[in-house]
Amino acid sequence: MLSRLEEGFKFYLVLHPSPTVVLITLCPGGRVNAMPASWNMPVSEEPPTVAVAVDRETFTFHCLEHRREATINVPHAGQASLVYALGSVSGREVDKVAKFGLRLEESHYVKPPRWADAIASMEGRLHAMMDVGEVRLYVFEVLATYVRKDLYTRWGWDTSKVSPLLHGAGKTFYEVGKMVRAQVSPS
Ligand SMILES: Cc1cc2nc3c(=O)[nH]c(=O)nc-3n(C[C@H](O)[C@H](O)[C@H](O)COP(=O)(O)O)c2cc1C
Repeated sequence: MLSRLEEGFKFYLVLHPSPTVVLITLCPGGRVNAMPASWNMPVSEEPPTVAVAVDRETFTFHCLEHRREATINVPHAGQASLVYALGSVSGREVDKVAKFGLRLEESHYVKPPRWADAIASMEGRLHAMMDVGEVRLYVFEVLATYVRKDLYTRWGWDTSKVSPLLHGAGKTFYEVGKMVRAQVSPS
């Protein structure tokens, strides 16, 4: 039997650990900003889209309203401390690219650059958006996807070599644990 979650407990943590991305945007004045977002998901295959929930108080929101494009970069579990740090300060106060020495590479289809040290990166252009509570949900059309081929297989990440970064709560992150294969029941 399930028990109702008590007041003060965060409902959304039942959906964590959640794969985390780093959203890179181009801001007014030409500055590049980076923000981790664990509230993200693929939405459709045709067109290929990914949604990211961005708090309207973030500098990233301001940057996305300036230019409605982003790169959606996938970090690995070894980058937890850096990702946490990127989410602990605002681009309003600091140039995170300079402060954290983020290595960037030029995108092909959008202006915001990609994070060169991510294990994957997608170039996204706004497809749709919707305000929900304190966030603006941006749905990006994925124009191109890049991966570390040495870590990737036809079925996704080779987790014997690398784990995408999964966010638990606060400073807690996870890496992918053991694989579970569904049994096909005899018909
Ligand atoms: C692991 C992690 C995941 C986060 N996920 C989100 C998210 O999905 N959406 C969001 O608006 N903020 C999220 N945040 C908070 C922002 O990253 C944080 O507010 C950041 O400082 C905003 O940066 P900016 O003001 O430069 O845009 C997350 C933070 C961390 C550390």
